[in-house]
Amino acid sequence: MKAYRASILWFAPHSEGPPQALFEEDGLLVVGPNAAGLQVVQAIGAWRDLSPRFAQVPVEHLPGRIIAPGFVDLHVHFPQTNVIGSPASGLLPWLENYTFPEEKRFASIDYSAEAAGFFIDELLRNGVTTALAFATSHTTSVNALFAEAQARSLRLITGLCLMDRHAPPDLLNQQSPGGHVDATMQSLLDSEALIHHWHGKGRLGYAITPRFAPTSTDAQLRGAGELAARYSDVWIQSHVAENKDEIAWARELFPKSRSYLATYDDFGLMRERAVYAHCIHFDDDDRALMRATGASAAISPTSNLFLGSGFFDYAGADRIGFGYGLASDVGGGTSFSPFHTMLAAYYVGREGQINHGLSLSPQNLWWQHTAGAGRVLAVKGSDGQSLVGNLLPGCEADFVVLNPKATPLLARKTALASNLDELLFSMIVLGDDRLIERTVISQGLAV
Ligand code: GUN
Ligand code: ZN
Repeated sequence: MKAYRASILWFAPHSEGPPQALFEEDGLLVVGPNAAGLQVVQAIGAWRDLSPRFAQVPVEHLPGRIIAPGFVDLHVHFPQTNVIGSPASGLLPWLENYTFPEEKRFASIDYSAEAAGFFIDELLRNGVTTALAFATSHTTSVNALFAEAQARSLRLITGLCLMDRHAPPDLLNQQSPGGHVDATMQSLLDSEALIHHWHGKGRLGYAITPRFAPTSTDAQLRGAGELAARYSDVWIQSHVAENKDEIAWARELFPKSRSYLATYDDFGLMRERAVYAHCIHFDDDDRALMRATGASAAISPTSNLFLGSGFFDYAGADRIGFGYGLASDVGGGTSFSPFHTMLAAYYVGREGQINHGLSLSPQNLWWQHTAGAGRVLAVKGSDGQSLVGNLLPGCEADFVVLNPKATPLLARKTALASNLDELLFSMIVLGDDRLIERTVISQGLAV
C-alpha cells in the first residue's frame, strides 16, 4: 500500500442531475492491490480523518499539488498524430487529402510501432490514462498499439478499422495472400482473431470498429453486428452525424434506414459500450435511439470547431438523456490536452445557451473527461460501480498530479481562486501538458 497527501479532486457517484465534484484541500489517497493484483483506491478523504487508520502506510507528501483522476479520452486516432493541424474545407476532403494518405503508412510494422510509442507517451504526458482509440485497417497497427499499451499497463481499447469500400485500394481491408475468403470476410475473421488475442488481457479491450457507414458495405456492417452479438462485452466504435456532406452520403448509401444513426442500429451496432463520435446533427428520434439502446456519444469539440463540423447539442442530449463524454479526436482534433478539449467544450456549450447562458460548469466539463467518460466505457466492478475515471474506493488507481503553479500565469491566477469552480476554471482555461507534473498508472497486473 502507498498513500499520497495532497489536495484531491474526485467525483461523487452520479446518477441523475449535475455531476458533483468533491475536493479535499489537505487530502489523503491510499492505494493498494485488490484481489486481482491491480492497484486500486483503498481510501480517499481528509488527511486528518484517514491518517490514523493508515499510520503504517508510507506517505508521499505533495504540498501545493492537486491529485485528480486520470483523464479518459473517448475517441482518438493513433495513426493521425501526424495529421494534426491539416486544414481542409470539411471532413471529406480532409480524409481524402491528409488522413487516408497518412493511414496507408501503417501497413508497416516499424512505422506502426514507432507511432504507437509516441502516441502513448503523448497520452501520458497529457494525463490521459484510458483511451478508446482508432487504429487503421491494417492488423499491424492494432497489434502495435495493443503491445505498446500492454507494456505500460495503460487501459486501452482499440480494434481493426473496418472499411471495404470508398477509400484508396491499399487502405481497404485486404484478402490474405492465398486466402479463400474475400476481403470483407477476412476483415471479420481478423477482428475475431484480434478479440481472442487481446480482449480482456490485463487492461486491454477490443472495439469492433467500422470506420463509418459510408466506407463499409452492407455485408461488412452485418458481419460486424453479428460479431458484436457473439461477443457481448466488447466495445463498438464508429463515427456518426459529424458533417452535412457525410450525412447526405450515408443517407444515399443506406436509404432504407430512418436516419444515418439508425443505420447502425439496423445492423445491430448500438448497445451499451457502443461509442459514436460526434453525434452533432441529430433529431430527437436519434437521441431517443441513443438512450433506448444505451449507446453513448464521444464529443470532440476541438475537432468539430477545426473542421467546421458543427456544435454538439448538449441541451438536446440532456433533454432526452443519453450518455456522453469528451474526446480529443486527434488528428481532426487539434490537441492531446484534456484542458484544451474541456475549454473547447465550454465554447460549444455556449451555442446551446445551457445553464442560463453560462455554458457548462467547470465541474461538469472536468467530469465529462474523467468520471463521466469512464461511465460511458462501462468498466464495472461486481457491485456495478464504474472503475475508471474516478477515485472512489475500488476504482483503478490511475491519477494525475497537477502543479497549479506550473507557469507564471497559472500560479498568479490559481492563487486568486476563492472557490473550487474558480480553481478548476483557471486550469481549464490556462492548462496544458505543463500542468501535468506526473501521471500515475495502476500497476501490478497479472497480464
Ligand atoms: N469519419 C470517418 N473517419 C473519420 C476520421 O478519421 N475522423 C473524423 N473526425 N471523422 C471521420
Ligand atoms: Zn474520429
